[in-house]
Amino acid sequence: MVYIKEQIASAETPPGMAYFDPGLFEAEMETIFTSAWLGLTPPRLEPNTAHPLDLLPGALDEPLVLTADKNGTLRIVSNACTHRGMKLVCDPLSTNRLRCGYHGRRFKLDGQLDGAPGFRGAENFPRQSDDLATVPVRYWGPVPFIQLLTGQAFDEWTDPLRVLFDFLPLDALRYDPGARRRFEVNANWKLYLDNYLEGFHIPTVHKSLAAVLDVGSYRTELLPHGSLQIGVAAEGQPVLPLSTSHPLAGESIGALYVHLFPNTLFNVYPWGVSMNYVNPMGPVKTEVIFDRYVWKPDLLDLGAGSDLDRVEQEDEEVVEATQAGLRSRLYGRGRYAPEQEAAVHHFHRWWSLQLPEQPHAQ
Ligand code: FES
Ligand SMILES: [Fe+2]
Repeated sequence: MVYIKEQIASAETPPGMAYFDPGLFEAEMETIFTSAWLGLTPPRLEPNTAHPLDLLPGALDEPLVLTADKNGTLRIVSNACTHRGMKLVCDPLSTNRLRCGYHGRRFKLDGQLDGAPGFRGAENFPRQSDDLATVPVRYWGPVPFIQLLTGQAFDEWTDPLRVLFDFLPLDALRYDPGARRRFEVNANWKLYLDNYLEGFHIPTVHKSLAAVLDVGSYRTELLPHGSLQIGVAAEGQPVLPLSTSHPLAGESIGALYVHLFPNTLFNVYPWGVSMNYVNPMGPVKTEVIFDRYVWKPDLLDLGAGSDLDRVEQEDEEVVEATQAGLRSRLYGRGRYAPEQEAAVHHFHRWWSLQLPEQPHAQ
């Protein structure tokens, strides 16, 4: 295990290998990502259809199927036939049954076994485990999340959002498919997050963002399973309509940035929410999704929530250059700036405690 000291003042950052070692990456996928809540772009499915979804390709590679029944109800089921495991659906289909192309086993769109030709004589068959496993879908407002194996309860995971975003009318948020962005970054998933988790680099890397925030008031608070960054608006910039009972009531807040472990980012701006998913694709390859949910479209081009593509470009450059530097045999471990990097430290400490013993990773 990579040990991260609890006291930030004396703690050291993870060693370079934590950001590219394939064995460590595999351990992260199995121990962290298999039971994480993972955000999905809202699928638009016609009734009676099935669409294959390989979850986190290159990382989890979990074969799933999204189905919509005749009422359009979305379900997510395993894409592995319960007989000998053949992948059931390889291309989108219009159908009301999933039929295995190997020995003809059939399933309803909710995963229930609907026919198993040739199994006469099999004892204790079918069992419940001969149905396709289903994966729960939970929603935060309009945003869907799934969890492959049972882990933390969704309500507990999202609990801090109830107070922090109490002013947001979740029913009024509208997903804007045209504004979706997908970036591929040549860096480890944690490195992208490390960069997200501090405002320390805003004055040096993001000049345009620094102009709309009061950089001196930027601050961080730790949450049980993540962190909050508070972007105070510069004079004259749009602000969040916080409720009178909000913990930051009375302050001019231009943006609230919440990270929930391991890889979900909720960025709340006066116009609405930018959901970001930092999806591992390999030890040094990461997909970053920006999904936009709009509340007040007239505010889209103003303040800290505008020009997000430019900020992303600036972040990608520093993150990829950091990945390149971490390869160095001459780089050891860094230190944390206690007043600036509390959220980075909190994330690293949580991460290190999830991992199994890694004797080679001292
Ligand atoms: S593997 Fe599907 S029916 Fe045999
Ligand atoms: Fe940044």
